[in-house]
Parts: sequence; C-alpha cells; structure tokens
Amino acid sequence: MQNSGWILVTGGAGYIGAHTCVALLEAGHQVLVFDSLVNGSTEALARASALGGGEIAFVQGDVRDRAALDALFARYPVSAVLHLAGVKAVGESVRQPLHYYEVNVSGSLSLLQAMDAAGVHTLVFSSSATVYGAPVRLPIDEQAALGPSNPYGRSKLMVEDQLRDLCAAQPHWRVAILRYFNPVGAHPSGQLGEDPHGTPDNLMPFVSQVAVGRRPELAVFGNDYPTPDGTGVRDYLHVCDLAAGHVAALKALPAQGGLLTVNLGTGRGHSVLDVVRAFEAASGQTVPLRFAPRRPGDIAACWADPSRAEQLLGWRAECDLDAMCRDVWRWQRGNPQGYR
Ligand code: WQD
Repeated sequence: MQNSGWILVTGGAGYIGAHTCVALLEAGHQVLVFDSLVNGSTEALARASALGGGEIAFVQGDVRDRAALDALFARYPVSAVLHLAGVKAVGESVRQPLHYYEVNVSGSLSLLQAMDAAGVHTLVFSSSATVYGAPVRLPIDEQAALGPSNPYGRSKLMVEDQLRDLCAAQPHWRVAILRYFNPVGAHPSGQLGEDPHGTPDNLMPFVSQVAVGRRPELAVFGNDYPTPDGTGVRDYLHVCDLAAGHVAALKALPAQGGLLTVNLGTGRGHSVLDVVRAFEAASGQTVPLRFAPRRPGDIAACWADPSRAEQLLGWRAECDLDAMCRDVWRWQRGNPQGYR
C-alpha cells in the first residue's frame, strides 16, 4: 500500500542508508534521498532501488546547506524524515572535532529549521550507543547515564538534547531517537554492503578486507581488557535488522506527537576474537592477526538491553553473528573493491 508523502532519508546513499531505503520500499513507502556523496554511492542507491522494487528519488546536497534543504522541501511533499547523514568515526572526531560539530550538530539544526519551515514535524534520528560512554552497568538500558568520551559521541548527544528541548517546546513534533550499537553485516543478496573509503576504522570491514586479501592481517587493539578473552566486547547488530528498526520506528511514532528513545542492539556481546572465529567459519578463510596496544578512547565492553525497542516498536533483532559474517563475506567476495 502506497503511504502518502515522501520519506526523506538524509545520508540514504550510505551503508546504513541504502539498506534502510530497501526496507522502506518493501514497506510501501515513497523514498527520497538527500546525500552529499562524501561517503555514499549512487551505485548503492541503484542497487537498493532494484532490491526494494521501487524508484528512489535522489538529490545531491549537504544538510548544512539550508537553501538546498528549503528547495528540497518546496519540491517534494515530505511526510517524515530519517536523518542518517553525518560523520561517525570516533578516532577522526578526536582529530577533527570542529568538523564533527559542524556536520553533525549544525547540519542537524539546519535540517530541523528547514523541516519546521516546511511544516514537516516527523523525524527518526540516527543516534549512537557512544552517547553512553563507558557503561556503569551492563546491559545498557535507555536510563543509563549519558557520558560520551569523544567528540563524535558528544555531537550525537548535542543533537539528542536539541530534540528533547524541541519536543518539550513544541509537543506536536513526532520524534524517535535510535541509539545504534554496532551495525555490521550486508544485504543477503550480496548486492549491498559496507564500503568504507580508505582504511576501515571499524572491525568488521577490516576483517572482511583481510579475508578477501586486500590487507595482510588484523591488528587486535588490546587483549588485556577485563573480558572473557581479554579483547573488546560489543553488541554487533545486522544492518538489515537496523533498517527494519527504522521502519518500525516510523510506524510507532505517536500520532499526537511526542518523543521516544530506544537502543537498537541484539542484547548479546561478542569479543573481537569471537568475530574473527565466526568470520573464518563463515568464509572458510583464515584471518591472520596480531595483538596491538589498546586504541585510545575504546571501552572494554558494551551491549544493549533492547527490551524497550521491543515494547515500543515491536522490534527485535533476528540475525545472529554467524548470519552477519556470512552476509558480509557474500558482499565482500562478490565486490572485493566495494562499489568501485
Ligand atoms: C569494535 C571492537 C576495537 C578495529 C564504533 C563507533 C561508531 C559506531 C560503532 C555508529 C573494539 C576492535 C576495531 C580494528 C580492533 N557507529 N577493533 N581492530 O569502536 O565499538 O564503535 O562503531 O554510531 O562508529 O563508536 O566499533 O568496530 O571500531 O571496534 O581490534 O582494526 O573492535 O578495539 O573493541 P566501536 P569498532
């Protein structure tokens, strides 16, 4: 059934964005993507359109460009916005904090102002578990203390605070804040996947590039953490489960207005060595590794209590780590150089 109005996905040509576009098309939505293509790919959009079985309207632009946003809303009757556009590398944020605040915070503010001017008051915001910082207790629920330890996490928390103040002042806004844990995986078709430009910051794309022969070995950042095998533990979430979470959030937004905040994670933690073993089993490839010093800013362990997302959105993660690794390998083996 065709829903009325366009769903605008900022950053929709990126890794999470393209998978989310597939899920939106499958749910019968009309999809409009606004993306600067700094990290995204029009090839990913073309493939997402084919997989989702529908057209995706695309406008290239930057969320910091208010005039471009005003023109976008003037041209398309938008019913809701999924705001995924942003920069998200922790290490890079430490080196370039002003860039992170400009893109993530000023960019979000510019989008909110353009939405308000256009009378669009429904938003799903891509936040992150990094707003919690080092957890006091595990699993992490939405009432856990907020204390980001890097500019990336602080930029996400600043936007969350903007949204909380906005919804308090203008209760007709309908807002969902989604705190992603560790998105990994790829569409099971092998057509869509993560294609980081340059050296991957994150574990899973690095492991898959070692397995496909693009890199000689994995450096494991620390094996002296207080975890079962000494390596860092995270809550890895299949990107298709994450995409489904966005569709579920859109449906669950209270018609009368209001703000909801949920963790999107599996509720299970896996160590770096767990991921390497699962990937070797899924790919049949050996992943050579060496132990290296801890990475500054890393925490030992982090995984979600996802029960609130199940209560409020009727959403839960379906895929386990083996499925995540199988899907990443199918994507990487079929696209050894990504979309290029
Ligand atoms: C996972 C584990 C590393 C690379 C990041 C950011 C943010 C967020 C999720 C969106 C850690 C270890 C990694 C490597 C390694 N995304 N590691 N060798 O840091 O938990 O979170 O991704 O919000 O981008 O917060 O993810 O994949 O970088 O690290 O040993 O080459 O793998 O130490 O224990 P992280 P990650």
